[in-house]
Amino acid sequence: MSSARGESGNFHPPNRPLSDSHEASFGEIRSRYRRFAEHEAKGVSPLYEQLARAVAGSDALLRFVASLPEPKQQPNLVFAAVRHLYGTPRDPAHLAGLVERHGEPVRALVLARSTQTNEPGRCATLLPVLARLPQPLALLEVGASAGLCLLPDLYAYDYGRVCLRPDNDDGYDAPVFPCRANERTPIPERMPRIVWRAGIDLNPLDVADPEEAAWLQTLVWPGQEARAQRLRAAMEISRAHPPRVVKGDLVHGLRALAATAPADATLVVFHSAVLFYVDPGQRARFAELVRELGGVWISNESPSVLPQVAARLDVEPREDRFLLAVDGEPVAFTGPHGQSIDWIS
Ligand SMILES: C[S@@+](CC[C@H](N)C(=O)[O-])C[C@H]1O[C@@H](n2cnc3c(N)ncnc32)[C@H](O)[C@@H]1O
Repeated sequence: MSSARGESGNFHPPNRPLSDSHEASFGEIRSRYRRFAEHEAKGVSPLYEQLARAVAGSDALLRFVASLPEPKQQPNLVFAAVRHLYGTPRDPAHLAGLVERHGEPVRALVLARSTQTNEPGRCATLLPVLARLPQPLALLEVGASAGLCLLPDLYAYDYGRVCLRPDNDDGYDAPVFPCRANERTPIPERMPRIVWRAGIDLNPLDVADPEEAAWLQTLVWPGQEARAQRLRAAMEISRAHPPRVVKGDLVHGLRALAATAPADATLVVFHSAVLFYVDPGQRARFAELVRELGGVWISNESPSVLPQVAARLDVEPREDRFLLAVDGEPVAFTGPHGQSIDWIS
């Protein structure tokens, strides 16, 4: 890995053009940032699109990114680190100036953090399933992050034709998650009754820690202010009603945690945007384990992550949507942030 660190340890973006060998190794980073601009940021965050294109076109910024370990070269991680420390860059020139002046602190934060997020909006797509199960429920979330998806009954939802509020919402400002739902979606009339909740994660986040809460907010892209506002409100609720999230692996820690759930509630093991990070062998072991536990299994993942579930569809799944399934049976396509649900049958 080439380094752009100067003798003083500070980052000095050089003015000289890239050499041929640098050109070859920077080519991948340039493509990655262009792909990010074109396929991820476009239409979602105009600023991130502009910044990513600027990195792809700047020798100095490419040099900085190339000096990071490969897994840390992700555009959203690098941009979040800059924003967390110095505020959101106004434009590419501002980004280049911040990286030139503050390369070392940005690098340190990139190395210390990851793009681990928690999206409470996904509760809007879980709720139609949760409300139809025999009540009360014992919720066990694997890959829970900060545990914000363990509090679905404490948020409000706007499904267009129906709005749902927490049963006892006096005295606090529940975030309202908008979710476009097709006609077939069984929109719940009342909140599920949750009597127990717990999560497991390799790295549980604590929203009572101001630094961790601020980092979670920084991971919401510029241009998504309403989403950031709802995240702040959900974190506020979570600080008042902290969900229990234990440190552990979803295969190795699951059985012990499930054993602490009350026997007279429906055990629901659920996860969203998690199995992508787990290798296929562990995914299969996990699916087996959930079945052995005898609870209800709700998965909300990209269709390619659980091919045996996607194989049960009679339509081609779209890559830009998650597949919601109950006990391995597909029930709906969902927006990855919980912004939509299209019930299948
Ligand atoms: C993209 S986040 C999704 C968080 C949350 N499920 C949500 O929907 O907002 C993925 C989470 O999965 C966790 N994770 C990844 N692999 C894991 C494993 N083997 N066991 C437990 N948690 C894992 C990560 O630490 C991270 O918190």
